Amino acid sequence: MKVSRSDFLKYMGKGMLALTAVRTLDLLSESTKEPSKKVQSTHTSSPKTKKDISSKIPGSNFKPLKPNTQDDLILAAGFTYDLIAVYGDKINSRGDTFGYAADFNCFFQFPNDPNSALLWTNHEYLNELEYYVTGYDYNQKGPNNRTPEQIEKYLYSLGGSVIGLRKSKGAWVLDPESKYGRRINGRSEFQLKGPVAGSETISGKTKVYGTFANCSGGQTLWNTVLSCEENYEMVVEDCKLEDSKEYGWIIEIDPFDPSSTPVKHTALGRFSHENAALTVSPSGKLVVYMGDDSKDQCVYKFISEKNYDPKKGKLNSELLEQGTLYVGNFEKCVWVPLDLEKNPNLKNAKDKEGNPKFKTQADVLVSCRDAAKAAGGTPMDRPEDLEVHPLDKSVFVSFTNNDSHGNFYGQIVRIKEENSDAESVRFEFEVFVAGGGKSGFSSPDNLAFDSSGNLWMVSDMTTRLLGKSIFKKFGNNGMFFIPTSGEDAGKAFQFASAPIGAELTGPWFTPDEEFLFLSVQHPGEDTRDYDVPTSRWPRKTKGDIPRPGVVAIRRA
Ligand code: FEO
Ligand code: CA
Ligand code: CA
Repeated sequence: MKVSRSDFLKYMGKGMLALTAVRTLDLLSESTKEPSKKVQSTHTSSPKTKKDISSKIPGSNFKPLKPNTQDDLILAAGFTYDLIAVYGDKINSRGDTFGYAADFNCFFQFPNDPNSALLWTNHEYLNELEYYVTGYDYNQKGPNNRTPEQIEKYLYSLGGSVIGLRKSKGAWVLDPESKYGRRINGRSEFQLKGPVAGSETISGKTKVYGTFANCSGGQTLWNTVLSCEENYEMVVEDCKLEDSKEYGWIIEIDPFDPSSTPVKHTALGRFSHENAALTVSPSGKLVVYMGDDSKDQCVYKFISEKNYDPKKGKLNSELLEQGTLYVGNFEKCVWVPLDLEKNPNLKNAKDKEGNPKFKTQADVLVSCRDAAKAAGGTPMDRPEDLEVHPLDKSVFVSFTNNDSHGNFYGQIVRIKEENSDAESVRFEFEVFVAGGGKSGFSSPDNLAFDSSGNLWMVSDMTTRLLGKSIFKKFGNNGMFFIPTSGEDAGKAFQFASAPIGAELTGPWFTPDEEFLFLSVQHPGEDTRDYDVPTSRWPRKTKGDIPRPGVVAIRRA
């Protein structure tokens, strides 16, 4: 780049501005853990106007928060949030309402209208807070005696929401009458796609009903959303559903077509799906990285058979129907195919009676955990979110924790594929940062990269242990900013603190990086007396219940 004298002065001016800001913060800082000003210099985005510098969130120098136990969503100084939608808010003219336990968020801008957008939000589970939705006391012992009405409320509150957003006075707000406003829930109809659809393994079904336990997800390159069914077993049991094989899949929804039938993609396997991180390999294949969030479960990747073709638009969805699923063997550092024809260990696997364990590829995909173990997949410490680094394509994985062998604090691991090629069979890995007192966080969960390659992570310390014993020093769950290059690489700086009993989930930047959408999930989850919840976030008015919801964070 050729820099003229006047340009040079302009750049100098900006550098000085950033430096002054850092110095001011340094003076105010009580902590030596201030993100270094060098973080600023890792920016690779297009030339910035003065407005860009003041409005964008990433790479920001902020005074890190200390562990906090207040019942509030607290952000680093200089940032504010707008409440976008909370449980019970009306989302369309038909009167549909925003579901419970907001998790993954995915933002879709309308191409021709910068003031109009759609947001997909997952609604994961009810658990301890079911009383506030159905009136049923989760903590009561004895048989499951939910009434049919309670079961319907339960299933309606889970799944996901498409909500319409419009920009008003510089902030995003919910449009309660949006024609795109839509609920996908525990009763919605789905098309089953991929090798399991119509197979004997699932009694010939090509249509199935309901989605729930929707944890995290991913955005496709063709502007649809993938949402992941995680801990479905409990919902199947609570709601007396017949066939658990209909759940534990990754679903796809087109938020721009309210009449479209959502899809369950069976080629991606059936397990406790946390999220789906998509990338395109150098040869053009679509690669999807996935984790099975349970103790001693595995990390997976799927490679499409055909190539991604931008010209095909939404027809690229077919890429998720045909391809090879692999499981990670971290001892040999290889991806092992979970394909009955390619892997003799699957062909030779026997059940207790000595019969073949997997007769068809549909069997492999439905019983993916068994197949992964038979193929030599490495049991890991709760693989939750995986994300692909936007600059070097390494893959970051949150291993939340695994108390069954003393890993209480978890770690973030960085996987480097051979030749930086997502199709590679071989990989290397290293612990990028471990949870604990030194790093200042515990139990990493969802991850999001900004365009400069800084990692934004939310923590998921088990609610019943929050504020107790080993987790006490961390305070409430929070959000952390972790540079991946420069002198602060691998250092965690706390950016946000969650209300009591809550977990922050679903961080998602708008493409202009001026807004960070974030969910506040299960505030008050440690409540035992439902009349006296431990949190009344966000309204805090006497008598209101705690309401999980979504906020949009921006610079104040
Ligand atoms: Fe729903 Fe793995 O967190
Ligand atoms: Ca999660
Ligand atoms: Ca989690």
